[in-house]
Amino acid sequence: MVIRGGLIAACLLILLGCSSATQTTLYQRLGAEQGIAAIVDGLLYEIEHDERIVHHFADSDIGRFRAMLSEQLCDLTGGPCQYSGSSMQESHTGFNITLADYDALVEGLIKVMQRQQISIADQNALLALLAPMYKDISYR
Ligand code: HEM
Repeated sequence: MVIRGGLIAACLLILLGCSSATQTTLYQRLGAEQGIAAIVDGLLYEIEHDERIVHHFADSDIGRFRAMLSEQLCDLTGGPCQYSGSSMQESHTGFNITLADYDALVEGLIKVMQRQQISIADQNALLALLAPMYKDISYR
């Protein structure tokens, strides 16, 4: 019995050791460069098909938006990038973005992450990084 208890403790120690040795960044868990590109492209598709918010992007350079959002998500999640775009306040001023608009975009993002089978924990980790930006993006 004592031997079995010792074995179980040893196995647990090995498992714990392994899990900390294989700790990954959110960037890696989202699928690194390819995974983030797929999230951004999926989100662009959702925005394009969401009549509640698509009008905000009518005059935007979508190529730039795509590149800047990818870079920002890479940077935020611990990837090897440095966001080089405008601040959230600068880039969203004048669009009169409401809480409902913000929620619609986040709803699209969640749909995409579900489709890509990203775990709920990782979905929440990304949303938690984006949530504080609301105050700079929304219309005041
Ligand atoms: C999670 C929240 C959001 C993040 C992280 C985000 C991020 C970004 C980034 C990185 C850019 C590019 C900035 C640049 O060009 O330097 C951008 C631009 C833009 N965003 Fe957002 N955004 C968010 C929410 C929203 C929402 C809710 C809307 C409207 C429904 C929106 C509408 C726009 C538009 C229209 C542009 C293009 C501005 C232009 O044409 O210059 N964003 N956003």
